[in-house]
Amino acid sequence: MKYGYFDDNALEYVITTPKTPLPWINYLGNKEFFSLISNTCGGYTFYKDAKLLRLTRYRYNNVPYDNNGKYFYIKDGDTIWNPGWQPVKTVLDSYECRHGLGYSTWKSSKDDVEAQVLTFVPMDDNCEISRVTLTNNKKSSARITLFSYVEWCLWNADDDMKNFQRNLSTGEVEVTDGGSVIYHKTEYRERRNHYAVYGVNTKVDGFDTSRDAFLGAYNGPDSPDAVKAGKCTGELASGWSPIASHQIDVTLEPGESRTFIFTLGYIENPEDAKWEAPGVINKERAKALLARYSDETSVDKALAELKDYWKDLLSIYHIKSSNEKVDRMVNIWNQYQCMVTFNMSRSASYYESGIGRGMGFRDSCQDLLGFVHLIPDRARQRIIDIASTQFQDGSAYHQYQPLTKKGNSDIGSGFNDDPLWLIAGTSAYIRETGDLSILDEMVPFDNDMSVAKTLMGHLQCSFNFTATHKGPHGLPLIGRADWNDCLNLNCFSEHPGESFQTFGPSEGPVAESVFIAGMFVKYGEEYAQLCELKGDQAEADRARQEVKKVYDAACTAGWDGEWFVRAYDAHSNKVGSKECEEGQIYIEPQGFCVLAGIGVEEGLAAKALKSVEERLDTKYGVMILQPAYTKYHLELGEVSSYPPGYKENAGIFCHNNPWISIAETVLGHGNRAFEVYKKTCPAYIEDISEIHCTEPYVYSQMVAGKDAKFFGQGKNSWLTGTAAWTFVNISQYILGVYPTHNGLSINPCVPEDFGDFEITRKYRGATYNISVKQNGAQKGISRLIVNGREISGNVIPYEEGVTTYTVEATLG
Ligand code: BGC
Ligand code: NOJ
Repeated sequence: MKYGYFDDNALEYVITTPKTPLPWINYLGNKEFFSLISNTCGGYTFYKDAKLLRLTRYRYNNVPYDNNGKYFYIKDGDTIWNPGWQPVKTVLDSYECRHGLGYSTWKSSKDDVEAQVLTFVPMDDNCEISRVTLTNNKKSSARITLFSYVEWCLWNADDDMKNFQRNLSTGEVEVTDGGSVIYHKTEYRERRNHYAVYGVNTKVDGFDTSRDAFLGAYNGPDSPDAVKAGKCTGELASGWSPIASHQIDVTLEPGESRTFIFTLGYIENPEDAKWEAPGVINKERAKALLARYSDETSVDKALAELKDYWKDLLSIYHIKSSNEKVDRMVNIWNQYQCMVTFNMSRSASYYESGIGRGMGFRDSCQDLLGFVHLIPDRARQRIIDIASTQFQDGSAYHQYQPLTKKGNSDIGSGFNDDPLWLIAGTSAYIRETGDLSILDEMVPFDNDMSVAKTLMGHLQCSFNFTATHKGPHGLPLIGRADWNDCLNLNCFSEHPGESFQTFGPSEGPVAESVFIAGMFVKYGEEYAQLCELKGDQAEADRARQEVKKVYDAACTAGWDGEWFVRAYDAHSNKVGSKECEEGQIYIEPQGFCVLAGIGVEEGLAAKALKSVEERLDTKYGVMILQPAYTKYHLELGEVSSYPPGYKENAGIFCHNNPWISIAETVLGHGNRAFEVYKKTCPAYIEDISEIHCTEPYVYSQMVAGKDAKFFGQGKNSWLTGTAAWTFVNISQYILGVYPTHNGLSINPCVPEDFGDFEITRKYRGATYNISVKQNGAQKGISRLIVNGREISGNVIPYEEGVTTYTVEATLG
C-alpha cells in the first residue's frame, strides 16, 4: 500500500494522506540553520547544533507521536483546522503534502477554504520562511482567523527538558509592531548574544507569547483556548513557557486569496551591541532579516535560488536508464539523503533526539563518501574538523559537538575502527578533487594546535594505530567496538545502566575484529596510494607489508570454512563461527573483506557471499547475523541484548547491505548485486509502505529481520550511513563510475536485463557524457571510446584543458 507517489519532474514526494504509518519528514536548511518538518507540520528548528542552540521545542516520546511543530490554525466559524491536519486533526476535505529538496508544501481544504503553505530555509539566511495563502472558494464571503504557533525552546534542548526549577523562571520575550514581531530573548540578559524572532509581514489582530495563556493551562496544542475563542490574549510571557502566536483576521470575498509571510529567525549580535536601550534588545539585524522576506517576490526568488542550487548539485551525477526507480533514487533522493546525513551526521532526527550524540567520527567519515562529489569544499573542512579530534596515538574521540567542534569526553575513544575511516574519507576526497594540498594542512590533535601534524601525519597515525594494536591471531584489536557499536567484547556489562559502550576496560589485549582487518586491507592500500602520490615509496611499501600480514591473518584465523569469522572475544573464542551456538555468521566481515579483495583469488570470497545468500538473505534484505541471539551473552554485550530480529541482533541493518552488493560486483555478479540493492531500496518498496512504515524516499537504519514479530518494518529513518554507502554502491560499483587518483574509471556491474544507460558526471572541472551499451553482460568492458579514440583499460586519462569527454563504453 502507498500513501503517496513520486513526482520526479518536480523532484518531490507527494503524500496524499496525513495518516502515514509514522511521521514522514523532511529536512530544511543547508548550512547552519535547520528544521525538521513532518507531513503533519511537526518538527523543530535549530541553529548549528541541535542540542545547544535549539529554537523550538519538540516533545519526544509523547502521544500523539509527532508532538509539537510550527502550526497554523484556521478558524472558520466554529470549525478549526490545520493545513497539516495535526494538531487539531479536523477531518479535511482535501490534503496534500509535498516534500521537496529543502522545502515542503501543503495544500489542504475544508469547507471551501483552501490553505497553501510553503516552508523552507533560504540559502543564505538563518531563518525559516512559511508562506501561507488562504483562498475562499465559497459562494459567499468568508471571515476567517489565522493563528500561527511556535513554542520556544530555552536554547539548550537537554537542559530544557530537565532543569525546570530554573527554566520555569527564565523565559523572556519582547513584542513590537503591535504583535507582528515576537522576540524570544531568554538568557540574552546574561551569557547569550543571540535571540530568536518570529514575525509576519502584516498587521495582526492579536498575539500571544505565553503558552498557558494561548492554550489554556490544561490544554495541548490540539485545543488552544485562544483559537477556540477566536482571539489571542496579548499576554507577555514572564518565565514559564514562552511561545509566539499571531492572530490575523481575514475577510475573503468569493474567489479571493491572501498571502502572509512568516519568518522564524536566529539573530546574533556583537557583544558590545546587544542592547538598544537598557533591557531592550538590539533588533537591527532582525528587522533587516524580516525586511528581506517581506513580500512574495522575495520569497519566490529565495525559493528559486534554493531550487537552482539543488538542480546544479544534482547535475553532477545524473543517470538516464530504463529503470525509473534507479533513476529517481540516483538522481534525486539518494543524493539528497547523503546531503542531509552529511549535515546532521547522527545528531538530529525523529529518532536521534539531537541532544546526545553530536557528530560521529566514523559516521561523518562515511557520510563523506556519498557526499564529496556534491560540495567538495565542505567535505574538505569536515575532514579537517574530524581529524582535529584525533589523539596523537591515532585513536579518536568517537563523537564531537558540532558547535564547539570538540570531542565528547563522555563517550571518549576506543572504537578501533574509527582511525581507519579517516583514511577512507580523505582518500575519497582526493580521488574526487585531486587536491593533494589537503595532506599538507597542519591539523591539531584533540584540538591542541601545539601538537599539530599535517593531515598526512594524521593518516599515518591512523594506519599505525591498527598496525600496532593487534591481538593473538595477528588481527586488529576491537577495543570498545568496531563498526558494530553493539559488539562489546571488552565490556561485560552485568547491571542495567552500565553503558555497553563506555563501561569496562576499553582496551582488551585479546578481543580481535575481522571486520577491522577488512578495513585495514582496503584503507591500508588507499593509504599506500596516498604515500605514493606524496612521493614516499618507502612508506607505501611498508604499508603494503603491514596490509599483507593482516590479509593473511584474515584468510587463516579469520576464515571459518564457509565464511569469514566476525571476531575473537576476550577469551579468544570465535564470534560468528559455525562453532557458536547462536550468531554463527555475521554480515560485516563477508561484505568488507570481499570488497577489500580478501580471498578473491583464493576462492574464499565467493564462498563467503554464497553463505550470505544461503543464511542471511530475506525478501526484505540481508540480515546482520544468524541465528539471532536468544540469550544475553555477557561476553558479547549489547548485540545480544536486543530481542531477536531487531537492530544489531539479526535485524536487516541497511548500512551493510551495500557492502554485500559491492562485494558481489567485485566478483562480477551483477544480477545478485542489483537484487541486494533493490531489496532495501526505498523506491522499490514504496508499495509496501504499510509494512515498511518509514518514508519511501529515504533509507532507514534498520528493517526488522525474519525473527522479529514485525518482519519488514523499518526503523530510524534518515540518519544512517546507508545513504552514503548505497550511493557509493549504485553510482561507483553497479553503474561503475568510480573516481580514481588518475581519472574516472568506467566499470559497471549490472544485471543482465538492465539495458543501456547514460550517465552525466561532472568531475574535476570537466563533464563526462558516458553511454553504456550493455549487450546483456553483467561486467567487463570490451570497448571504451573516449572523444572518438579507443583506449585500453578502464580509466579515462585526464587531459589538461579538455572539459568535455564523450565516453562510449561497451560491455560484453
Ligand atoms: C545503540 C546501538 C546503535 C548505536 C548508534 C548504540 O548506543 O545502542 O543500537 O546502533 O548506538 O550509535
Ligand atoms: C549506528 C551508528 O551511528 C554507527 O556508527 C554504527 O556503525 C551502527 N549504528 C552499527 O552499530
